[in-house]
Amino acid sequence: MAELGVILLAAGQGTRMKSDLPKVLHPLAGKALFSHALETARRLHPKITVAVIGHGAEAVRRACTDAQVRWAIQEQQLGTGHAVLSARGDFKDFAGDVLILSGDVPLIREQTLRALVEHHRARSAAATLLTALLETPKGYGRILRDRGGAITAIVEEKDATEPQRMIQEVNAGVYVARASFLFAALSGVNNDNRQGEYYLPDIVAIGLADGQKIETLQVDDAREMMGINSREELAMMEKSLRQSINQKWMLAGVTLKDPDTTYIEDGVTIGKDTVIGPNTQLCGKTAVGAGCRIDGSAFITDAAIGDDVHLRFSVVLTDCRVERGAIIGPFAHLRPGTHLGANVHIGNFVEAKEARLGDGTKANHLTYLGDVTIGRDTNIGAGTITCNYDGFHKYNTTIGDRVQVGSDTTLVAPLSLGDDVYVATASTVRHDVPAGALVFNQREERVREGWTEEKRRKMKGNKK
Ligand code: UD1
Ligand code: CA
Repeated sequence: MAELGVILLAAGQGTRMKSDLPKVLHPLAGKALFSHALETARRLHPKITVAVIGHGAEAVRRACTDAQVRWAIQEQQLGTGHAVLSARGDFKDFAGDVLILSGDVPLIREQTLRALVEHHRARSAAATLLTALLETPKGYGRILRDRGGAITAIVEEKDATEPQRMIQEVNAGVYVARASFLFAALSGVNNDNRQGEYYLPDIVAIGLADGQKIETLQVDDAREMMGINSREELAMMEKSLRQSINQKWMLAGVTLKDPDTTYIEDGVTIGKDTVIGPNTQLCGKTAVGAGCRIDGSAFITDAAIGDDVHLRFSVVLTDCRVERGAIIGPFAHLRPGTHLGANVHIGNFVEAKEARLGDGTKANHLTYLGDVTIGRDTNIGAGTITCNYDGFHKYNTTIGDRVQVGSDTTLVAPLSLGDDVYVATASTVRHDVPAGALVFNQREERVREGWTEEKRRKMKGNKK
């Protein structure tokens, strides 16, 4: 079997996006546009993968975590043919086939790429390109064929005559070509066209003139070859991608109460029998367990959530871990570094940051837990605040097992409360408390009978 190489074209600016961000870096389903096609191509295990970059080259390179990818810089974007030539150096000792993909065609499927390569090899073609039938072919290069149905050339829309523009078969922008043919044909491409660019599709006519065999393969479902050239197309694709991700999870046994308002990014996983309410966004590398309930209005990024967790209405979770059976919210905010043990309860208006809570611990109301480690079965009363910041540094608080922290307590870090400590309500605790102790603040309580009535009388008198 011949070797396979991949060239991904991602150097263009994407003028039609009207953006400072290079087009291929615009996010789609939570990851950079170019990485969709790149990851799909990588599943064919190519021997060489080269991404051609130019506009925002450094940023594009930084956005890619795949160490196997080589980078070719196209200094000036003189066209797709010129872009492929920029990768030539990486294919010096390469004798196989080169698969060429566009960074702005994200939905292309692995099986389509495999079919294209198979077709190409079975026919011993010099080059094979993917085509599609579109009801509205606007913007794409059109496939020209002779009477016998054989391809003769590709004409770009801007260069096409009116009758040519009526042609509905278009160039999908996905090609496979013998390396030797590809680079030889490309040196014959000129920029004598309306855009003054070196067109990659021109290798078709060049190859045919040279007596080479050029093949085409038509995709069944044209949706997978749709290119993104504008923000409107990006939004439309985001939507269709979102629908197919939602469909995948519903087929896998997840209930989505309102798929139209459920946003699940590509890298997310969800267990069976989890029920997800409206307005939920699951982002990044979030993993939700089985049998969970997400009531709705949840914004969750990079969170690991165990089985049978209940996220009540309106919660924000970022870069945190929640073990099985926990109940969070409504209106709770779990910030990075938070790790909640099994069956922990976090109630309304509770914020946690770098907070580690042991199994069965509860903080049900109006509380800030920052830079704190809490043992198991501890109860944090309403209005408890860990004072972790003095304006210069952050300090840690440690709280043991089975501790009762009374309501309206301020815990001034650095601080440690031993196991089984009782903190009386409305305490300000500044010093470590040993296990089993009670801590309280001495305060005098005074009662003045009849005070309210007297006050009201005085105030009324003032008004007149
Ligand atoms: C291209 C094809 C067209 C096809 C369509 C499919 C050409 C001339 N036309 O048109 O026949 O129907 O794709 O989507 O190839 N790029 C570079 N360097 C450049 C120019 C472009 O890297 O100098 C990259 C872009 O970043 C993009 C890809 O190549 O990822 C395609 O370029 P684009 O300008 O979007 O081509 P289309 O006009 O869509
Ligand atoms: Ca394009």
